[in-house]
Amino acid sequence: MNLLLLGAPGAGKGTQAKRLAEVLGLLHLSTGDLFRAHLSQGTPLGQTARRYMERGELVPDDVTLAMVFERLADPEGRAGFVLDGFPRNLAQAEAFAQRLAQSGQRLDLACYLRVADAVLVERLTGRRTCPQCQATYHLRYAPPREDERCDRCQVPLVQRPDDRPETVARRLAVYHAETAPLIAYYRAQGILREVDGEAPPEVVTERLLELVQEVGRTR
Ligand code: AP5
Repeated sequence: MNLLLLGAPGAGKGTQAKRLAEVLGLLHLSTGDLFRAHLSQGTPLGQTARRYMERGELVPDDVTLAMVFERLADPEGRAGFVLDGFPRNLAQAEAFAQRLAQSGQRLDLACYLRVADAVLVERLTGRRTCPQCQATYHLRYAPPREDERCDRCQVPLVQRPDDRPETVARRLAVYHAETAPLIAYYRAQGILREVDGEAPPEVVTERLLELVQEVGRTR
């Protein structure tokens, strides 16, 4: 089963992709997480990505595609994958479709997590992350047990630099201009399903698992 989660920054792609990958035994591929890993390791790719991420812009397609294709070649992805944050524009979607076709694979399901912009802004500005284990919290919706410390690692949580209000506004504008057209792109292929991303996280997970089962029955 190969699926992707589509949605604006803060729609809950990362939260849900982690859960789905775990429950279904699939590879979780988040381009944002891969870029952040390169950043923290100080690789040349990370330094390139930083320039774009800090401004809320997309990292160039050639850099992103090379990184994704390398990760997809990993044997861990043999049972299938959950994509989170990729593809991000039509050029990436086309290049990805070609690559899948070359390897005799296909995308089974594209789930669009629908969330209003005002909710997204609140989610992003309230998000906190553990710098050690990368667990995600929200000051209001998913607070840590102890004041701004990771439940597991006990280290102080941090705010992602691109979650500051000025960068959030730019990321949302880029999403509407470049990524939102993918909703129509996958709808035209008959593989798009919409999910209410404003429901509580457990309800969203349940709905996504139902969709995966439905698609699994008709494959
Ligand atoms: P990336 O890391 O992919 O960020 P994003 O798409 O902007 O998405 P986020 O991680 O911000 O949000 P999410 O939808 O995963 O939400 P989450 O589950 O964390 O990309 C970062 C940057 O990298 C980009 O700006 C770009 O520069 C670059 N990049 C990445 N991919 C690229 C590509 N393919 N091409 C080019 N450049 C690329 O949830 C958010 C918050 O809400 C959390 O606090 C969470 O606890 C809370 N929450 C989640 N679900 C719910 C719910 N149902 N109810 C209440 N709260 C919830």
